[in-house]
Amino acid sequence: MTEATAGAAGALDLVGAVARLLNSSDSKDAIGRVAELLRRGVPATSVTIWVRQPSGAAFTPFAAPPSPTPPFPRPTLEGIPEADASAVRLPLEHEGTTVGVLVLEGVEPGPGRAAAAIVADLLAPHVALIELSEDLAFEVAVRARQIEEQRRFTGLVIDSLPVGLYVVDREYRIQIWNRKRETGTQGVHRDEVVGRPVFEVLTRQSADQLKAEFDQIFESGQMSQMDIEVDDAAGGRFYRISKIPMRLGGDQISHVITIGEDVTEWYRIHRRIMQNEKLAAVGQLAAGIMHEINNPLATIGACAAALEGRLAEVPAAAQGAFKEYIAIIDKEVERCTNIVDGLLDFSRPKGVQKSPVAVNTVIEDTFFLLKHHTRFKKMTVQRELTDGLPLVLANAEQLVQVLMSLMLNAVDAMEAGNGRLTVRSGLGGHRGAEVVVEVQDTGMGIPRAEQTKIFEPFYTTKPQGRGTGLGLSICYGIVEDHRGRLEVESQPGLGATFRVFLPALP
Ligand SMILES: Nc1ncnc2c1ncn2[C@@H]1O[C@H](COP(=O)(O)OP(=O)(O)OP(=O)(O)O)[C@@H](O)[C@H]1O
Ligand SMILES: [Mg+2]
Repeated sequence: MTEATAGAAGALDLVGAVARLLNSSDSKDAIGRVAELLRRGVPATSVTIWVRQPSGAAFTPFAAPPSPTPPFPRPTLEGIPEADASAVRLPLEHEGTTVGVLVLEGVEPGPGRAAAAIVADLLAPHVALIELSEDLAFEVAVRARQIEEQRRFTGLVIDSLPVGLYVVDREYRIQIWNRKRETGTQGVHRDEVVGRPVFEVLTRQSADQLKAEFDQIFESGQMSQMDIEVDDAAGGRFYRISKIPMRLGGDQISHVITIGEDVTEWYRIHRRIMQNEKLAAVGQLAAGIMHEINNPLATIGACAAALEGRLAEVPAAAQGAFKEYIAIIDKEVERCTNIVDGLLDFSRPKGVQKSPVAVNTVIEDTFFLLKHHTRFKKMTVQRELTDGLPLVLANAEQLVQVLMSLMLNAVDAMEAGNGRLTVRSGLGGHRGAEVVVEVQDTGMGIPRAEQTKIFEPFYTTKPQGRGTGLGLSICYGIVEDHRGRLEVESQPGLGATFRVFLPALP
């Protein structure tokens, strides 16, 4: 046998061995073993099979002998050594793309080179197949990561919303429960609720009613909205509950999204605007009537005085009765005059002279005026005044009038002897931009339903002749005129706190 035929037989053996190896294994290890077969069979000093990575551009080497330095990927084909007299560089082409490169170094001329070219052809589809499956696995992993990121992002969006949000499916099971629903006094952690029927979690409402609400959305496909009031210590909060139908695909409603938004502030402002409008209208009406009533009152008073002057002309037997009648007329005229004056106070065009005023001084002035009030003496009076408060732009007499009304009401609300009146001053409002004076009592308090009515003119619960019901409405008007707010907080039986907020001067 000549050397050439021996070489040719060797080359055939080599190709056969590679073909058998690739047939029996489609793993990556096979590539390393092909490199080893080639090194010995061609022969070559080293063989490297560069395989394109799933990410696309770079190439990973499978070398024989195994490279002394750790295998590293090459960024591009260009980085792979060029062919020369002793080196062979064979691209692995499959369906028009280069899936890898076979590089043999230290190759003797002879049939080994031709065998290497055939092996390159055998290798290419195998490498392509490995790459394809790796590409797929890679893509699946990338996609999974994207989906996970997207899910995290959506979760963050839902959790960042300043509203409570939860989602139920057709079995009324909770699927989503956002962060806002985990916080607060009624908060429950999502781990405890997701997957459970909503009726087991939201027990404040009856299950039947809740179910009916969801059913209505499932059936009609229409969004619903309603406002509810929830009792709490600070005077109730209002929530706007929206139920929104959701379709996961198809026509059927698959889920209902429920959003609960705290609209308490909106309600308070709305109520205040209504109140102001009502009081303004009453004020206008009152001012008109006052003119009409003042004159007749003056006439009645004058006539009563004239009658009194002529009492001597009445027969002696009737004089006593006449005197009594005239006294009653006088008293009632005076009462009417007081009401008229009060109403005028309330409706008088505002815009009195104002100057920078220290509220603590106003409080002390009010105490000074009330010191001699008999009922006042029987109360425990406590001052909690904050020093160094900013001044407010105000009419001091009017502020005294306001505090006096509030304190007299407080005194009226408490039983003589066992009441405590606390007057505080401090910073309040948004970012402490307001000065607040608080008048707190331990009296009978005011039922929730009455708390807006008390500011209306003539609303009184005091016995006939005791109160006119004008005190608070006048206070309200004065505080409004000072660009401030007058608020009440009360729990029946536990007393009431009135707060006067006034904008602080810089
Ligand atoms: N501190 C308080 N505690 C309990 N109820 C109060 C308090 N302040 C006011 N009210 C209620 O509000 C009503 C209206 O108060 P307002 O000061 O306007 O009128 P009044 O005190 O009844 O009469 P007036 O002040 O004209 O003499 C009172 O009759 C009372 O029912
Ligand atoms: Mg009063």
